[in-house]
Amino acid sequence: MARDQVMPNDLRAHWMPFTANRQFKKAPRMLVEADGMYYRNTTGEKVLDSSAGLWCCNAGHRHPKIVGAIQDQARKLDYCPGFQIGHPQSFELANRVIDLAPEGLDHILFTNSGSEAVDSALKIAIAYHRAIGQGERIRLIGRERGYHGVNFGGISVGGIVSNRKVYGSLLTGVDHLRHTHLPELNAFSRGQPEHGAELAEDLERLATLHGPETIAAVIVEPVAGSTGVLVPPIGYLERIREICDEHGILLIFDEVITGFGRLGAPFGSTHFGVTPDLITCAKGLTNGVIPMGGVLCSAKIHDAFMHGPEYLIELYHGYTYSGNPIACAAGLASLDVYREEGLFEKADGNARYWEDCVHSLRGLPHVIDIRNEGLVGAVELDSIEGTPGKRAFELFIRAFERGLLIRVTGDIIALSPPLIAERSHLDKIVGMLGDLLREQD
Ligand SMILES: Cc1ncc(COP(=O)(O)O)c(C=O)c1O
Repeated sequence: MARDQVMPNDLRAHWMPFTANRQFKKAPRMLVEADGMYYRNTTGEKVLDSSAGLWCCNAGHRHPKIVGAIQDQARKLDYCPGFQIGHPQSFELANRVIDLAPEGLDHILFTNSGSEAVDSALKIAIAYHRAIGQGERIRLIGRERGYHGVNFGGISVGGIVSNRKVYGSLLTGVDHLRHTHLPELNAFSRGQPEHGAELAEDLERLATLHGPETIAAVIVEPVAGSTGVLVPPIGYLERIREICDEHGILLIFDEVITGFGRLGAPFGSTHFGVTPDLITCAKGLTNGVIPMGGVLCSAKIHDAFMHGPEYLIELYHGYTYSGNPIACAAGLASLDVYREEGLFEKADGNARYWEDCVHSLRGLPHVIDIRNEGLVGAVELDSIEGTPGKRAFELFIRAFERGLLIRVTGDIIALSPPLIAERSHLDKIVGMLGDLLREQD
C-alpha cells in the first residue's frame, strides 16, 4: 500500500529534470503507485492522470501484460550487446513497428529516448546525402517553438527559447521556419486550424536564401506538443512535403508524442496522410515503461549505406542500450496491448467527444484559446503581467493537490489522457479542470 512507503528525508542530492527544484523540495509532490488511469500519492490518495505520464503511458499504468513481459525477459536475457551481436526480440519489434508505419518506411534504428532519436535522425540525414554524393547538404531546418528533446542537435533545430539560449553556439548551419500559431485568426479552432498553410512557404524562402542544394533535412512535429499543442493548419504538412520533394530535402517527422495512437492512428503521418522520409519515435513505443526510442527510415536512405566491403560497419552510430532486450520486451507487449485492446481505434472513436469536452471550457476565467487533435487538448490562459507561466504553474499545483495530474508549459495546460480513458474519465478530467479554472482570481 502507498501509505507504507518509506519516504527519503533528504531530497538534496537529486537534481531533478525540468523542475523548479527549490520549490519542489519545499513541498514535494510524490507518486508511489499507479494503476490504469490513476496514480497514488504518498498519503494513498488517487491522482487522475490526464497527461499519460509525460505523453507516454498510452495503455495506462502497470498493465499486467507489459509488466509480465518485462519480468519474463529479465529472467531470460537481461542484456545483450547490440554491436555485432543480436537477440531475436529487437528484430521482431523492428518488424512490428514497421508494420504500423506508413508505407515506404522500412527500417528502424533503436535509441533510448526521443532526444537520442532526434539526434540520430539528423546525423543519418546528413550522412545519407554524403553517401549519395551530395556532401554539401549539411544544413538542417527546424521550426520556432519546436521541441526535439534536449541534446545538442535537438535544441539546435528546436525553437523553445529557454531550452536553447544558455547553451552556447549550438550546431552551425541551422535555420528555422516560423511557428504556425496564429491565435488572432485561429483561436478556439476545433481540430486543424483553417489559417496558416502559407507558412510552409517559409521553407521555400529558406531554400532560396541558403541554396536548396545545401539543405539536408527539415524536422517538424506533426502536432507540436511540448510547446503547448500547436495543430498544423490544413494543408501545411502537405505543402512542406511538396517543397522537400522539389528540392531533394529529407523530411523528418518527430513523432515522439504523436506516435503510437495519440492522434487515433498509429502515427501522426498516417493520421494526416503525409509520409516523411524519417520518423523519430519513443514514449508510447514501450508505453513509457522502459526508456526506448527509434528512427524509422525509408529503404532509399537505409540502402544508400549498404555499400563497401561487407565486414565494415555501415553507420558509425549506436548506443550501448540500443535494442535492449528488456526494452524490446516492453515494446512488443505494448504493441500487443494496443492491438488487442484496440487502443488506437478507441482514441479515434473518442476524439470528437474529447473535442467537445475540452471546448466546453471556453468562456471560463482567463481562457484565451483551446486547441485539440486526436486525444490531445490544450487550454491556453492569459499570462499574469510580468510573471509568464505563473498562472498555469499555480493551477498545476492546485490540480495535483485536488487529485488531478496535468501538464503545463508556459501558461498552457496540455492534456493527453492515456488512450484507455473511458468517456467518464474524460468528463472527470474536464470537470475537475473546469472547477479549478472557475476558482481562479
Ligand atoms: C516531439 C518530441 N521530440 C523529442 C522529445 C524528447 O524525448 P525524450 O524526453 O525521451 O528525450 C520529446 C519529449 O517530450 C518530444 O515531445
